Amino acid sequence: MDSHSANTDSLSTATLTAATLLGFVVLQIARKFFKPHSPLDAIPSFGIPSYPFGFYVGSWNFIKDGRAILEQGYLKYRGQPFKVALANRWLVLLSGQRLIEDIRKADDSLSFADSAKVMLQSEYTIGYEQLHDPFQMNVVRTALTRNIAACFPVIREEIAAAFEDLIPAKDEWISVPAMQTILPIVTRVSNRVFIGLLCRDPDYIKLTTQYTLNVSSNAQWLHVTPSFLRPLAARLFGHLEPATRAAMKHLRPILQHRIEMDDKYGPDWPEGDRPLVVGRSTRTSNTANSTQADAHFAQHQLCRQPYHHTGEYPPLSTAICRPQSPQGILHAFYTLAANLECVQPLREELESVVGAEGWTKEAMDQLVKMDSFLKESARTAPSGAIGLTRLATRDFTFSDGTTVPAGTLLAVPVFAEHHDEVNYTNPEVFDPFRFSRMREQDGEENKHQMVTPTLEYMSFGLGRHACPGRFFAVNEQKLILSHIIMTYDFKLRDGVRPPDEWIAVLVKANTTAEVMFRKRR
Ligand code: HEM
Ligand SMILES: *[C@@H]1O[C@H](CO)[C@@H](O)[C@H](O)[C@H]1NC(C)=O
Ligand SMILES: *[C@@H]1O[C@H](CO)[C@@H](O)[C@H](O)[C@H]1NC(C)=O
Ligand SMILES: *[C@@H]1O[C@H](CO)[C@@H](O)[C@H](O)[C@H]1NC(C)=O
Ligand SMILES: *[C@@H]1O[C@H](CO)[C@@H](O)[C@H](O)[C@H]1NC(C)=O
Repeated sequence: MDSHSANTDSLSTATLTAATLLGFVVLQIARKFFKPHSPLDAIPSFGIPSYPFGFYVGSWNFIKDGRAILEQGYLKYRGQPFKVALANRWLVLLSGQRLIEDIRKADDSLSFADSAKVMLQSEYTIGYEQLHDPFQMNVVRTALTRNIAACFPVIREEIAAAFEDLIPAKDEWISVPAMQTILPIVTRVSNRVFIGLLCRDPDYIKLTTQYTLNVSSNAQWLHVTPSFLRPLAARLFGHLEPATRAAMKHLRPILQHRIEMDDKYGPDWPEGDRPLVVGRSTRTSNTANSTQADAHFAQHQLCRQPYHHTGEYPPLSTAICRPQSPQGILHAFYTLAANLECVQPLREELESVVGAEGWTKEAMDQLVKMDSFLKESARTAPSGAIGLTRLATRDFTFSDGTTVPAGTLLAVPVFAEHHDEVNYTNPEVFDPFRFSRMREQDGEENKHQMVTPTLEYMSFGLGRHACPGRFFAVNEQKLILSHIIMTYDFKLRDGVRPPDEWIAVLVKANTTAEVMFRKRR
């Protein structure tokens, strides 16, 4: 996997350079003849040298150092719009409560889905319908989220089996490459919920783990490929079609079985054989009718789905194209291993809560310190430098009078917001229990949770598009981290938290660091 990711990285750097140069020449010639006036001219740019062709220098700097440029821009323009050069286009940054509220409310004219077309190149890397299919959203929002508690035994079983396979608990220290061990484990555990025991197939694990990584590397080079060449380039060099074909080889029999059973039994599909996530609540006596209807609807669609569209399989995209989920756990693990003093308080909390409640969802909700640790980990080691990414589908005027034309890419510099002293004392300090301390105050017990998006905490977005998978993701993170804490002693081989790998606004947790485990003493 190492050499693969190295290859794609050098490929994307070379393509990036070539495409930037090409775009540069074409644009300069075009500019000689036309100088269209754009409302964007009124928005100050940041990180762009003022000499001729500065845009391209700024663009290159942003690829290398995007996070720092956004932080400096944020400090200069806090609460006001500014723009930076993102490869071949402007990215307009909006910060402060007022502008963020504008984004949150402007669902019709500022599209989340269309921004994913640009940032993730979702049409070519995931399958546009797959990512934004309302059925899938429905499955995540209703069937998955409502059934988290019911999934617990199976998730726990898979976590234990996956760790025992990859990191057998021995008395001596063993050293493992962190990314190559943790990502497959998390992918396998998430897959268990969607496709059952196929999640243990080594070929399928490899396929799905690579798929996640390939989404972002493909997005990088497609982003700078001229748009008229993209369909062809994606067909020739893209990962989506081969990955889908390979996945369908495994999935087809499972899907066929699901369809047969659904035809035969509908909502009365016998317990045990019925897929775990969908349809559970049809059998639970205390759920309302609407829940039953939703669940059945979702179940039905999940079965039928692959025969629509292009033969892709929804769980492949829903669960697996979310690189944030495995990345979040890898980040959290690096953070924990670099702050071993947190382990004892987390263990004590686990022992007292789980001792009283067992491994239930209620117990996970009571892990206040763990929740705080994970939230602080996501604040300090995020899945990217920006959030609430949107594309203007028509000309749009913000409440401060700023106008952006249709086609403008917009985002909030979330990392910078999360490091603003206004809302975080000592923002540069990793303070694992800052949120649990807040929850100790009267009336604050249920606030400051990781799953609650606020203007101060936007790791899961905000408003209508806030991540619908966050309840599942946070529970999964808690269960996996708990398993590590209760089963192993661990440490970083080099002692310090291995540096993350940033490109423009995107980040991967370090891909090469080794970590050490032994059976807990
Ligand atoms: C730690 C893990 C995760 C993080 C940090 C994360 C973060 C996000 C963010 C930032 C957004 C965009 C919100 C916005 O722009 O306002 C999003 C959207 C979304 N997430 Fe997640 N996510 C995670 C895990 C998951 C999981 C496990 C699933 C599915 C099982 C999921 C499903 C979705 C879907 C379907 C959307 C699109 C929502 C829409 O279009 O309205 N996410 N996520
Ligand atoms: C991911 O990309 C690598 C390198 O291009 C390729 O060898 C591999 O087959 C791809 N895997 C999937 C599942 O797309
Ligand atoms: C809907 O709920 C009512 C009352 O709780 C119950 O009598 C009825 O059987 C339910 N319908 C279905 C289809 O389960
Ligand atoms: C964050 O800062 C803003 C601006 O000063 C303030 O209005 C808001 O109450 C703060 N939120 C918290 C949780 O401190
Ligand atoms: C990842 O971590 C390892 C070990 O700490 C380090 O040698 C390597 O340079 C890091 N990678 C990057 C890209 O910083």
